[in-house]
Amino acid sequence: MKITYNNLEEKIAFEGIILPYFEDCQGNYDSLEVLNSNKLPIDYLKSKDLFSGQKNQIYHLLISNEDRALDLVLTGLGKRENLNGDILRKAVARGYKELKKRKVSSVGIYLHDVKIGLKCNYAIAKNAAEAVVMADYKFNDYKTDNKKECVEKVSILFNDINDNFKNGFNEGISLGKNNILARRLVNEPANILTPEELAKRTIELGKEKGFEVEIYDLEKIQELKMEAYLSVAMGSEKPPKFIIMRYTGDPEGETLGLVGKGLTYDSGGLSLKTTKGMVTMKGDMAGAAAVIGAMSAIAENRLKVNVTAVVAACENMISGRSYKPGDIINSMGGKTIFIGNTDAEGRLTLIDAMHYIVTYEKVDRVVDIATLTGAAIHCLGYDATVGIGNNDEFFKSMDKSFDKAGEKIWRMPIFEEYKELLKHPEADLTNTADSPGTITAGMFIGEFAREIPWIHLDIAGTSGAKKEKEYISKGATGVGVRPLYYLAKDMAKKTR
Ligand code: BES
Ligand code: ZN
Ligand code: ZN
Repeated sequence: MKITYNNLEEKIAFEGIILPYFEDCQGNYDSLEVLNSNKLPIDYLKSKDLFSGQKNQIYHLLISNEDRALDLVLTGLGKRENLNGDILRKAVARGYKELKKRKVSSVGIYLHDVKIGLKCNYAIAKNAAEAVVMADYKFNDYKTDNKKECVEKVSILFNDINDNFKNGFNEGISLGKNNILARRLVNEPANILTPEELAKRTIELGKEKGFEVEIYDLEKIQELKMEAYLSVAMGSEKPPKFIIMRYTGDPEGETLGLVGKGLTYDSGGLSLKTTKGMVTMKGDMAGAAAVIGAMSAIAENRLKVNVTAVVAACENMISGRSYKPGDIINSMGGKTIFIGNTDAEGRLTLIDAMHYIVTYEKVDRVVDIATLTGAAIHCLGYDATVGIGNNDEFFKSMDKSFDKAGEKIWRMPIFEEYKELLKHPEADLTNTADSPGTITAGMFIGEFAREIPWIHLDIAGTSGAKKEKEYISKGATGVGVRPLYYLAKDMAKKTR
């Protein structure tokens, strides 16, 4: 699929077109040449309560012109005064998916009338482009007959294509593509996407987008004494890879640190998961995918900020070398840990990654993002990411960043009382602290961020979708990529 923009006046033929309407069908498209003098039956649709431009509504019409058909989709934007980026994205995505289903090969999206609600050309172009790119993706790489639904070209049609519009369009494409990049990584099965393969793909991406990638192999990981990470990785035949990404956009400025959970497979280890629990565990590297996608977007858009990201990639498997329930292990930060359950492995890989990034990469603030606990699903379900953190101002910026991306986050508290739960009589810490499990798991990682502003994001619920909706496909969602990009962008503004 190729996406571009054209001036409204240009005469381009499309097989399908999308017409967005505000509530009460505000929007006038009758004079469009593509309609070939056909009048749209707006009053009829309204009188029958079939379409009135409400948010979430769409209506499909087929116009026949001699030997050709033109598929039209009317898509609702809701009330003019309530329009925001996410409503526009969803309206465009709905329209696009409807046309894709109808096998059109070219799509024109008329957006000039959207201006009466969303005044900014930048926002119109950005959100529409982002929506199309995201809505176009479906995980079918392993289907041998995957060519069925294929839109070849899409154009956004507008009457005021200025630099603002073009910048918005480019950013939208970039964010959409990098969200998909993360979804692709997460959807890859674990027999293909091993730690080594993840490292390889990150190296290639770094070359393409302009960020530095360094990989630490087993020997270097041992030399650095990342013993908690190694305890998890040891049970697998596949060697761990510690991936470091560095982007320098402002040599004098602050550095944002990102840490992504990179379990390319989580069987649970000796505390084995059930078969059902294991089937989706190729996705236990969604945190890694989010930071890789965000790095790619940050570098591609040349943000004036420094960002360093790390991923301690490995598998949690079973063998004679596996770590065991009851073990007491060490960590790079020097704290000892009692292993109550080998399925609580993510936090072990993350504390060494956190200790490393804070100590050796000298980041000024840090975010870790992880499919960490099933309990996160009990907290907020599948639609909102659980966040915790030690700094209100930093969390506000994160809240704003999620909002811009149309993703949801809710902050949980860190109460003094919970700190006791992390302690163990035989070691400094336990990896299986009591309820609230999502908060105590996050706090376990926070111990290693020490004093710097830190946020933990648990995406166990939000990293996968059971069914498709608007611009989200079934399977991986690419959660986190766009919020982390906006977070970096927010920092870039302040340091400039
Ligand atoms: N990767 C899982 C968490 C998870 C569960 C992600 C479901 C996505 C969907 C994590 O490693 C895990 O197994 N956590 C345990 C921790 C427990 C043993 C303290 C859990 O949540 O059950
Ligand atoms: Zn686990
Ligand atoms: Zn896990």
